Amino acid sequence: MKKLFAFLLVFFLFSAVIFTAEEGFKLPAPQKDIALSKLLEGRESVRQFAEKNLSLQELSTILWAGQGMKSSSKKRTTPSAGALYPIELFVMTGNISDLKAGIYHYDTPSHTLKLQVAGDKRKELLEKGAIRQGWVATAPAIVLITYIKSRTEGKYKERSISYIAVEGGAVMQNVYLMAQSLGLGTCAVGAFDDAKVKAVFNLKEEEPILLMPVGHIK
Ligand SMILES: Cc1cc2nc3c(=O)[nH]c(=O)nc-3n(C[C@H](O)[C@H](O)[C@H](O)COP(=O)(O)O)c2cc1C
Repeated sequence: MKKLFAFLLVFFLFSAVIFTAEEGFKLPAPQKDIALSKLLEGRESVRQFAEKNLSLQELSTILWAGQGMKSSSKKRTTPSAGALYPIELFVMTGNISDLKAGIYHYDTPSHTLKLQVAGDKRKELLEKGAIRQGWVATAPAIVLITYIKSRTEGKYKERSISYIAVEGGAVMQNVYLMAQSLGLGTCAVGAFDDAKVKAVFNLKEEEPILLMPVGHIK
């Protein structure tokens, strides 16, 4: 009888281990009542924009989220390998209150827009064949995420391009989440002609990664 009991005990313990391994380990439900969980749940790509201006404050907040300086240190809102910060943001503007249409470079340390090209160039993106997605040009602002490879390459050599891609993705997510917090919409757009985007934006040493049109949701 004792032998039978011992056998059954070993059998049940053994099958419990096998059963758990096959079923996987069920996690508790994620905590969804916190602000960031709500933002992540609601994040989605928006491709239809209302004909409504963005305010300068909204644009400022979007750019700061993407690549701004923190008040508490010389570091930024996104992490960067070796704090070398290869990412540079540009913005093509059409309908921004109190800002002339043009292409601007966002100078992170001074939180300043520096004019690159004057005038509304959104249609040029389409006409010059840089991009084939017409809805992009309907956004009041189009943020361009770019990088300067040499900043990261010196230290990280062949790892630099994957590090830079990761950093560009962090900027993208910050822009998505900040747009959503402000009640705005955006979408990552990677399907474009690099050389033509460079020409329209008048880039020099920067290489484009993603366009992010931002506007009020239609
Ligand atoms: C690197 C990258 C490139 C993308 N390129 C485009 C694009 O060229 N055009 C577009 O409409 N959406 C583009 N998207 C958006 C995806 O289509 C979108 O994230 C996906 O359909 C999931 O939908 P969601 O963002 O609403 O969750 C891109 C997204 C990423 C991350």
